[in-house]
Amino acid sequence: MKRINTGRLVIVGAGLAAQYAALHLAPRPVLMISPEPLGQGASSTWAQGGVAAAMHPADSAAAHARDTVQAGAGTVDAQVAHAAANEARMHILDLTELGTLFDRTPKGGYVMSREAAHSFARVVRVRGDQAGAEIMRALTAQVRAAPHIQILEGVMATGLEMANGAVCGVEVVHCTNGQSAPCLIRGAAVLLAGGGSGGLFALTTNPPRVRGQVIGMAARAGAVIADAEYVQFHPTAIDCGLDPAPLATEALRGEGAILINRHGIRFMQEAHPDAELAPRDIVARAVFAQSQAGLAPALDTRTALGARLLRDFPAVATACQQSGLDPLVTPIPVAAAAHYHMGGVATDAAGRTSLEGHWACGEAASTGLHGANRLASNGLLEALVYGRRAAIDMDAVLGPVAMKQAAVTLPDLPPTTAPRSDLVNRLRQTMTHGAGVIRTAQGLQRTLNEIATIEADQPDCTALANMTATATLITTAALNRRESRGAHFRSDHPDCDGATGARSFLTLTQARFS
Ligand code: SIN
Repeated sequence: MKRINTGRLVIVGAGLAAQYAALHLAPRPVLMISPEPLGQGASSTWAQGGVAAAMHPADSAAAHARDTVQAGAGTVDAQVAHAAANEARMHILDLTELGTLFDRTPKGGYVMSREAAHSFARVVRVRGDQAGAEIMRALTAQVRAAPHIQILEGVMATGLEMANGAVCGVEVVHCTNGQSAPCLIRGAAVLLAGGGSGGLFALTTNPPRVRGQVIGMAARAGAVIADAEYVQFHPTAIDCGLDPAPLATEALRGEGAILINRHGIRFMQEAHPDAELAPRDIVARAVFAQSQAGLAPALDTRTALGARLLRDFPAVATACQQSGLDPLVTPIPVAAAAHYHMGGVATDAAGRTSLEGHWACGEAASTGLHGANRLASNGLLEALVYGRRAAIDMDAVLGPVAMKQAAVTLPDLPPTTAPRSDLVNRLRQTMTHGAGVIRTAQGLQRTLNEIATIEADQPDCTALANMTATATLITTAALNRRESRGAHFRSDHPDCDGATGARSFLTLTQARFS
């Protein structure tokens, strides 16, 4: 394998957490590994709602932390929730300084959206559903202009390199035309910020490449993975046959849109006192039950928004139009789709993982903020909080900044076998059926067997091994948790085992041999 040594700090990923960390590392030389053109294909860019932050004078960080703990179904680390909520305001001001054009009131305040399980309209937004795209536009411009950052685009990390028990580099492949043979980049330290696992499921709102690879590569190197069983399903993915499924943001329900079925019955009123604004896991299960019963759940925006939807929610309007749907005439068909992985590489308050020389942040990490059910728009907040913290900590650990580092150039490498699409499709189907919204011991065991078969069918493909590693961890953690809590629902153990629950911590070796 070709080897390249660089004194640069290597960041795997190019979404919000990765870019924010890279900016906070200035002037330390950084190398960013991005499979797509920078910022494209990252879940952050697709985020519609916004960033949860108590910006209104009548709101408070304490109330934000309380809602976060409450939504997390007894497994949120309260200290983490308070710290993140306290920092939120600072990050909104920082993003504004970096050029993000948030929606503003005539008096210059921030326009806030209401989302489920928030006790206050607390989501800082951009034109209804454009928050992720706008934040990433602003940050990408800053990153591209930053002299300390080198970006390798069209390159994907497939493994971590270890030496003397510490992470010392990443194995990468070119992925613009198929996949090349791997090359090893040895750097000053490695930060994993390459997204979650939604695409391990057949129905997902995540960009196509987000399939648990980053969590999988950390797990294969021996990192401890936390809360793997907690996968959040979004209740209102637009059910139009597209893969990935476009999202109809929760902010629509915050504006009064309702969920009805084919008989026009508003089914959330019976399910929870907060109806459409109940915690996301409850709404997702109700929507899933309607789909399973053939009752065609749909989001009706006609009365609450009418034609305002076209102006105020351009992403949703465009997705509907491209799918031949007219939300002004008929409700939008919806389904529960894998949206966010609360689990990930276990990190401490500084973003350090269990491996030396290794940090993680963003959706790839599990910090204890989300527990069993992430509060809406806390995902981007966590990316900001831990992107910055990891940058500060890595800087402190690495000490004085070395001289300017030469740019890294990858050699041309011969093509090699990418994951077989039939195997990836089988994996996604088996995860949806056996480890999806409703789980049972039998279904989870069947899923584990199928994952092992898929893995054995292409044993020399590390990109596939990363996906199957994460799938194994999700499924094993779900099998081990014999209760229902937040987003993890077992129909064979439907009750919650006490008001608070321990977080789960698992290595891949433990998962394989448990
Ligand atoms: C949404 O806009 O509904 C998604 C927001 C989130 O996942 O935090």
